[in-house]
Amino acid sequence: MKLHSRVLASLATTSLLALVACGGPASEEAVVATEETADAMEPYEPEAVVPTMAYAVLTPAEGMDVAATVTFTEGEGGVTVHGEVSGAEPGHHGFHLHEVGDCSSADFKSSGGHFNPAGVDHAGPEAATRHAGDWGNLTVGEDGTGTLTLTTDLLTVGEGEHSVVGRAVVLHGGEDDLESQPSGAAGPRIACGVVALGALPADDMGDMEEMADEAADSDATE
Ligand code: CU
Ligand code: ZN
Repeated sequence: MKLHSRVLASLATTSLLALVACGGPASEEAVVATEETADAMEPYEPEAVVPTMAYAVLTPAEGMDVAATVTFTEGEGGVTVHGEVSGAEPGHHGFHLHEVGDCSSADFKSSGGHFNPAGVDHAGPEAATRHAGDWGNLTVGEDGTGTLTLTTDLLTVGEGEHSVVGRAVVLHGGEDDLESQPSGAAGPRIACGVVALGALPADDMGDMEEMADEAADSDATE
């Protein structure tokens, strides 16, 4: 009887070991499957958003009634700069992107010189070699308003050495002669605004709202 029970006990132990041995590889497979599932579920990373628009709202120098806005739109061929001025004296006004986004001093000299990452001479917007910030002149009519639109491949809205964001737009009281160094002898700085990323806020799109109102009025009378 004693021998018999030992054999039985031994048999029981053997089958237990067999069960454990079978269970081993099965568990490993389960772990592998779990890891594969984790690999398939990588953390969600949205694609980087490339900024395409920037703007500046200019503040007039003390005693001036001039108002101006500028928008920057990045697209094929570079950045399209569109400036709108009102309340200015009729004539040609030097209009540039200056290096430093600081309009805090009364004479706006805090905005530094023309934006010039290439370290070249001042010139007009048509010149092959010119400051990246050389936009020439904005022409103001008898009603005190004027616009300037140009596209330049020397500027970007997106990050980088040529980005307009964080720099300053300056409107001058006089004409840029497109050749005097270092800044075209365009006279006093009469308005200045720091360039920010994004679309021009609706509050500063007065002209467009007026046009929309006029269009609505003409629709109503028809
Ligand atoms: Cu200037
Ligand atoms: Zn210049």
